[in-house]
Amino acid sequence: MNGLRRWARLALGMPSFVRTGQFGDGRETACADFVEATAPRGDVAAALAAIDTFATREAMLVKVLSVEFSAANAEVARRIWAHAGVAGRVTCVVGTIGDGGHTLDTLAGEHDVTAGGVDLLFIDHDKSAYLPDLLAIEERGWLHRGSIVVADNVRIPGAPGYRRYMREQQGVRWDTVEHKTHVEYQSLLPDLVLESEYLVG
Ligand SMILES: C[S@@+](CC[C@H](N)C(=O)[O-])C[C@H]1O[C@@H](n2cnc3c(N)ncnc32)[C@H](O)[C@@H]1O
Repeated sequence: MNGLRRWARLALGMPSFVRTGQFGDGRETACADFVEATAPRGDVAAALAAIDTFATREAMLVKVLSVEFSAANAEVARRIWAHAGVAGRVTCVVGTIGDGGHTLDTLAGEHDVTAGGVDLLFIDHDKSAYLPDLLAIEERGWLHRGSIVVADNVRIPGAPGYRRYMREQQGVRWDTVEHKTHVEYQSLLPDLVLESEYLVG
């Protein structure tokens, strides 16, 4: 599957490569940064080895997919990813997990999400959708033993159903740690981030 993804990324970057000689996701500059940071100056063998290391790591990178309900917000995110040089490996799919299977089918059919293929799931959207969306993803069989799910804002605005589910499933389907935090960008309002490891599979 990594091979497939690598070819898909190559194909996506091809128009930019033909036009500009670069793939458009910042990989060439990142490669030069890596060589400068890791190979001693004047050592051509080390420079070549560093290029190989960089290319191997790039090929192994796990792809990031985001599901976003708002097309406008998706566009904002894409602008930032492009500016940060990661547009080639981060993709935003406009939709919701709860839209009757349409977005889930898109993730499977167009973005190669397969059984056991999700290593990390970050949940930070409509709080009432945390639990049903997680269950829908679990139902598809996309998690594997050791998959990690991180859920933000479980106390404020709060996802009590999700928290209750994780408590009920403690040691059964999930192993959860509740991290005490604060609501973002201030230090007054206490919040919770739940980090859960999948025990099934
Ligand atoms: C709190 S923001 C995400 C912030 C982001 N995680 C960050 O840390 O910068 C929540 C986003 O979820 C989107 N959203 C709300 N309900 C959704 C749903 N059911 N499915 C997908 N996205 C949803 C909103 O449009 C909004 O862009």
